[in-house]
Amino acid sequence: MTDVAERLEELRESGLRRRLRLVEGPQGPRVTLDERQVLLLCSNNYLGLAEHPLVREAAAEAALRWGAGAGAARLISGNMEPHRQLEERLAAFKGYESALLFGSGYLANVGVISALAGRDSVVFSDELNHASIVDGCRLARAETFVYRHADVEHLAWGLREAAGHGSLIVTDGVFSMDGDVAPLAELVELARRHDCRLMVDEAHATGALGPGGRGSVAAAGLADEVDLVVGTLGKALGSYGAYVCANAELTEYLLNTARSFIFSTAAPPPALAAAQAALELLEAEPERVDRLGANAAALRDGLAAEGLASGPSETQIVPLQVGEAEPTMALCERLLELGVFAQGVRPPTVPTGSSRLRFSVMATHEPQELREAARLAGAAARELGIGGPTLLAA
Ligand SMILES: Cc1ncc(COP(=O)(O)O)c(C=O)c1O
Repeated sequence: MTDVAERLEELRESGLRRRLRLVEGPQGPRVTLDERQVLLLCSNNYLGLAEHPLVREAAAEAALRWGAGAGAARLISGNMEPHRQLEERLAAFKGYESALLFGSGYLANVGVISALAGRDSVVFSDELNHASIVDGCRLARAETFVYRHADVEHLAWGLREAAGHGSLIVTDGVFSMDGDVAPLAELVELARRHDCRLMVDEAHATGALGPGGRGSVAAAGLADEVDLVVGTLGKALGSYGAYVCANAELTEYLLNTARSFIFSTAAPPPALAAAQAALELLEAEPERVDRLGANAAALRDGLAAEGLASGPSETQIVPLQVGEAEPTMALCERLLELGVFAQGVRPPTVPTGSSRLRFSVMATHEPQELREAARLAGAAARELGIGGPTLLAA
């Protein structure tokens, strides 16, 4: 047995071995998965824009006009009209002076954090931040202080200990596996008091929270106070790619120093045109955001009626925490047999002992099908004898 085969076997034994499932057709509310029709409850295509006809057309037209790829990094020859246009639109949408596109949210987080946090400084990161933030902190040669989830007292203590060496506080706006919202007003306060920059990752907040889906920072009325907002084009905006919004000085600095920006091919024009069309639809039809919120509430209420707890979720991300990996995956498989696809999420994506089904709702679901999905989740949990204090509502 090779060392790799051994490691794969260990993963299988601990219930952590993953495999790809094949989805046929676009990411709509219902899909064919491994040849079976299911209700899709784990896509981040929150507003149903990935399959919208105008978004598809924009991508197709851009492919015909600009070509399939950008051909080089932005600083070489890859800087094209679609990049400039979308950056202007995104900055205006988020209420910032300037925006800079990256290849993906992962690349944006890794690039921005490692560019801003110097060797002698300290970065402060919420313990439940996305893996791309964790990796950005690792890549920055700064010290990282991981504060307890949303615990501003713990963060304040860390900032005092850092005695002026703090450079950056970084947080998810909406936490990707729990669906709760960061305490942004307190974070702004602490950042100002300790002369640190504040960076908020709005991957799951854009299109879901705030006026017209402008995100968690806009929802809290803090666009002038948060130094950097990262967002992705791959979730509510239905495409692929990412951006950071900041003042012009900061984006120019990132353009000169963020290695994942400098040393990576520019995002392809069809993806950018699709995101721009999605952004225009979002601006024209803000009711999509309201529908998403109402659908999320319908699912949470349905789960509660089944006696299932969805934790601290306030958004379209609704976790059903089971605990161990194996029962989580058993529940996932049983629900699939019943026609509902909610992916089981295990370590290292979530902390050990907190494996869960992560439901993510779309604006294009019908409330009735969400209530039925909740009923099936309750039936499947009871059938499998899965319970425990985190899963069962008090
Ligand atoms: C909070 C958060 N930030 C960043 C990312 C990465 O974005 P992308 O998928 O565009 O790489 C994700 C998810 O993928 C995420 O959940």
